[in-house]
Amino acid sequence: MSDPHDLSDSAFLRAVRGEPVSHTPVWFMRQAGRSLPEYLAVREGTNMLESCMNAELVTEITLQPVRRYGVDAAIFFSDIVLPLKAVGVDLDIKPGVGPVVAQPVRTLADVAAIPDLTPEHVPFITEAVRSLVGELAGMNGGTPLIGFAGAPFTVASYLVEGGPSKEHAKTKALMFGAPEVWDALMRKIAGISATFLEVQAAAGASAVQLFDSWAGALTPGDYERYVMPHSAAVLARVGALGVPRIHFGVGTTNLLSLMGTAGADVVGVDWRTPLGSAIPLVGDRAVQGNLDPTLVFAPTDVMTARAAEIIEAGRAAKGHVFNLGHGVIPSTDPDQLARLTEFVQSYPLG
Ligand code: CP3
Repeated sequence: MSDPHDLSDSAFLRAVRGEPVSHTPVWFMRQAGRSLPEYLAVREGTNMLESCMNAELVTEITLQPVRRYGVDAAIFFSDIVLPLKAVGVDLDIKPGVGPVVAQPVRTLADVAAIPDLTPEHVPFITEAVRSLVGELAGMNGGTPLIGFAGAPFTVASYLVEGGPSKEHAKTKALMFGAPEVWDALMRKIAGISATFLEVQAAAGASAVQLFDSWAGALTPGDYERYVMPHSAAVLARVGALGVPRIHFGVGTTNLLSLMGTAGADVVGVDWRTPLGSAIPLVGDRAVQGNLDPTLVFAPTDVMTARAAEIIEAGRAAKGHVFNLGHGVIPSTDPDQLARLTEFVQSYPLG
């Protein structure tokens, strides 16, 4: 009998490797979360970070969108700041706000005070991934699990600003003005994010996504000099395990080529860049994306017409994984995402 955990022939992993697929695989960033009533029900009374440390809850929440939509991949329920919490950084995720850090990091001493992550800090991650891999093997013919981490720049932004930021001004001031502190901070986070990904891969995740959500705040020159080497270090460590890597950021039209070179097998494209223009920039790599998340609020035929354009554009790429151009908006109607999943999966590629 074949190994039930061998998902290498799934549409998702075939597309990631650039092999022919019977349908375009689809999953949604933030598919597990606030747009689902069943998520709100199980989260009732449990704080976000506590939920992320409870293997049973993580398993249930990760499976919810797979059950409801039959998507081609599951995304692990956690957060980019969870590993920082696990090593003891005083932070919280405030509902409707995002990660808030009690003592922002500004000096070499602040960086040195953050411990490195070890697998022993996150036993609940190993437990949740193992249980998920077992459950997912039996869902929809075998559904791969995507692990994830935050890229050094995006995580640094929360640590340096102390919370969410539009301009990332304090972060960039540190980057431009105190290169030795910046370098130490980026190395520290790169180590933490790489270990976080390794733990998920070792426990059975089929692929990983490195979220550099806020990298679009940088010019290509600054990205290449101050950020890319550290993201590349993270991607190299998981690449050594043979696990495919997706690399995603928002507003990254000018960075797509560099983000691919950093060591990605798949480059995630946000909705501002037409997929057809992104494909030549990413070179010999697959692409992921990129329906505007607000199109899910449009009439179904308008939404599916745009989805069809994206699927058609994606055919020029080495491989194409359908996704939204950023996360699911919390007020999204789950029935509309179900229709979108069904549309993408039944779109004829012949
Ligand atoms: O479904 C999934 O995609 C898996 C889970 C996931 C979460 N966060 C759960 C979450 C993933 C992949 C993330 C990544 C993440 N977290 C990113 C990168 C992705 C992106 O959106 O660009 C970033 C920047 C964060 C930091 C963060 N955590 C933000 C900005 C927020 C939203 C704040 C808010 O409430 O509007 C969070 C909280 C968060 N992470 C929630 C969820 C489901 C909401 C928590 C809740 O239910 O109150």
